[in-house]
Amino acid sequence: MTTLHLNASHTDDQRRKMIFGGDFFVYSTRDAVAALCAHANGMIRETFAGLDPETAQFQFAVEEFAAKIGPLKSRFTNDLRTKEIIRDILAAFGHDLTATYFDVPRLRVVTSDNFLTAGVGYAYKAHRDIWYSSPESQINWWLPVYDLASERTLAFYPKYWTQPLPNTSEGFDYNEWTRVARTTATTQIKTDTRNHPLPTEPTDAANEMRLVLKSAESVLFSASHVHATVPNSSGKTRFSLDFRTVHLRDLETKAGSPNIDNRSKGTTLGDFMRAADFAPLTNVFSTETMTLKSA
Ligand SMILES: [Fe+2]
Repeated sequence: MTTLHLNASHTDDQRRKMIFGGDFFVYSTRDAVAALCAHANGMIRETFAGLDPETAQFQFAVEEFAAKIGPLKSRFTNDLRTKEIIRDILAAFGHDLTATYFDVPRLRVVTSDNFLTAGVGYAYKAHRDIWYSSPESQINWWLPVYDLASERTLAFYPKYWTQPLPNTSEGFDYNEWTRVARTTATTQIKTDTRNHPLPTEPTDAANEMRLVLKSAESVLFSASHVHATVPNSSGKTRFSLDFRTVHLRDLETKAGSPNIDNRSKGTTLGDFMRAADFAPLTNVFSTETMTLKSA
């Protein structure tokens, strides 16, 4: 059984608990989320100077296209205004900004017709974020910059909430990933040689649930849910935004979703910053002992 809540008005504490139980939360457009989309849209349109961003891929050689979106993605991630708007979003969704931490926001670009599926345009195969060393208390926030279609979105596989999916996560080490993999993303065009954790058997296609959202509508889900990039056959490039949150109390009490098949090493928690002032989580939390640092 999987529950999807539409525009629910739970408190953040209630919502996190339900997400740790496998529930999905979908929200119609809110001002702060629309502001994040507008911010991304501005950067995207600057990058493609006058072309329609959703069809610009057809005007470029794949190397040229990758050379444009690499810097675009970095700019969006590192921009101070991006982080400020995420803080506004978390405030609008009722989060305690002094106890909520978020990681680096990302702009994803998924081209149509297998144009660019590696490196900066990597189309994620079915995975749980915890296979990539995310904490079990992590909540994923995902939203499209432009309207989606069933052939241009992400897919969930709810049955694997309670059923293990054999995978290669034992070979994933986050320290190794950050040291090697990210630096090579911009140079990969045809094949992605990074050590992504992958399922070792096909996912159940009959269980696939695709969520078709409009610009600035959003979905929140547990980092333990299996999800994938839908191979884009829509004729338009997909631009989406995502970031992840954790609550300090959940880290302290080890609250979170179940881990039924993840064996990755390391943790992404070193990337998280406090929503209130962007101070690193590592100021108050040790990623070595996975406990709060004493005052
Ligand atoms: Fe993911």
